[in-house]
Parts: sequence; C-alpha cells; structure tokens
Amino acid sequence: MRVGFFQMEPQLLNTEYNVNKALSCVERIDADVVVLPELFHSGYAFQSMEEVQKVAEPIPGYTTEKLQEASTDRNIVIVAGICEKYKNRFYNSAVYIEGDILRVYRKIHLFLDEKKFFQPGSEFLVVNSIGVMVCFDYFFPESARTLMLQGARLIAHPSNLILPYCPDAMALRSLENRVFSVTCNRVGEERGLHFIGQSQIVDSKGNVLYRAGVMEEVAVREIVLEEADNKFITSRNNLLEDRNPAAYKVITEQKK
Ligand code: ACM
Repeated sequence: MRVGFFQMEPQLLNTEYNVNKALSCVERIDADVVVLPELFHSGYAFQSMEEVQKVAEPIPGYTTEKLQEASTDRNIVIVAGICEKYKNRFYNSAVYIEGDILRVYRKIHLFLDEKKFFQPGSEFLVVNSIGVMVCFDYFFPESARTLMLQGARLIAHPSNLILPYCPDAMALRSLENRVFSVTCNRVGEERGLHFIGQSQIVDSKGNVLYRAGVMEEVAVREIVLEEADNKFITSRNNLLEDRNPAAYKVITEQKK
C-alpha cells in the first residue's frame, strides 16, 4: 500500500485557498492514504475566539464534503486536521475519510493557546487499521500505545509542529509499538510561530523511510501494512505478550 503526505503552507483564515490547494494534491497523488496537516483549512495561530468561530466548521461541512468528493473520485483515504464546531464548542479535530466513511478524532492533548480556544477530546480513533492522533499527542507515549492496542497498524498524524522533538519521537513511537506512522506537518510562519516541516514516514521497526525538509512538498512511500502485525522484538520477546499492565496502573489513575 502507498502512504503519503502533503506538507503544505496554509494561509491563516483562508479556507477556500487552503482547501483548493490540498485538493490539487489529492487529485494527483499516487497513494492509497494521504495525510494533511493539523487545521489545514483554517491555519493555526488564532488570536481570538471570533477568528475561531469564523473558520470552524461542522462535520460534515464545507471542507469535509470537498474531501469526501475527492476521496470517492480517487479511491483514497484522507486524514486531515479540521477546526471543528459542534454545539457551540470548538475542537482541534482530525477526520478519517474513506469515500462515504467520515469519522472524527478530537485532539486530546492541547498545546499552548489551543487551550484557550478548544475543548479537549476524550477518545482515540482507529478505522480500518489506521489510528489517528494530532500533533502534540505524540509527546504522550500513551497516545500511540493506545492506538496500537486498539488495532492501529499505521498512525496518521496531522501536525503543526513548533518544538523540535517530534521527528525523532515518532520514530520511537513506531519502534516501541511496531506500527507505521505518517506525520504530516505544515511549513511557514504565522504570527511569530515557525513551523519545523520535517514531515515523515516511518516503518514498523522505527526506520525513517522519508523525512521532508522545510518547504512545501508531497511524499509517498510503499509499505507492507501487515509487517505491523509482527510484534516480536527478539525470538523470545513479544511486545504484546511481554507487557504487564498491572505494573502500569499508575498511568491510568485519574489526575489529582
Ligand atoms: C501542536 O500540537 N500543534 C504543537
């Protein structure tokens, strides 16, 4: 199967431009799965709730309808970050789109000013072996572990990365869970925030198959998804069988 990303530079608050730009990639890319950045249609660095309200969309809505049409036309899975409005609440969400299938993940670990504008989500999403998480979720290893335990063989990871840690961290997340990952970051600057690019595709042994630079670009790699089913680390160590959840209870205790 062929998996890829479009590392693009969205324009802040310019949905039509951003959606058209993403569609021009989806219409041409030779892939089975394509990942777009976090908040790809809206941009990221909101300064007020009014700005969020201006670009936030219900799901389904304008952007997801356009993506669904493209997904159906091209027979391609699209995972993309969406600024979501639901019942007067706002979420930093990502959608999984496969023709008629439209599922939503709401980012659980909100970063910096996102906490001013968005509600956090509460559950991870896996559809047809593809797990979805958004940007800063990578910093919490429980995110990728949960997706793997829920059946993900590939993690699709829309991002707007600012800190430098994610590329190496995601290689480790893939290694320690034996899952493929596609991180799609954005590039450019918004209101003093500089996005690091370096989107990447990682195999289920933690090898970086491709890492982008800091310009807009499209990349695709061929992977064998079933390789993620091999959880042996050595001939006598198996990632699933050797786990000891009873020893990790503190991880799932509620915050004080
Ligand atoms: C981030 O979560 N956008 C850094």
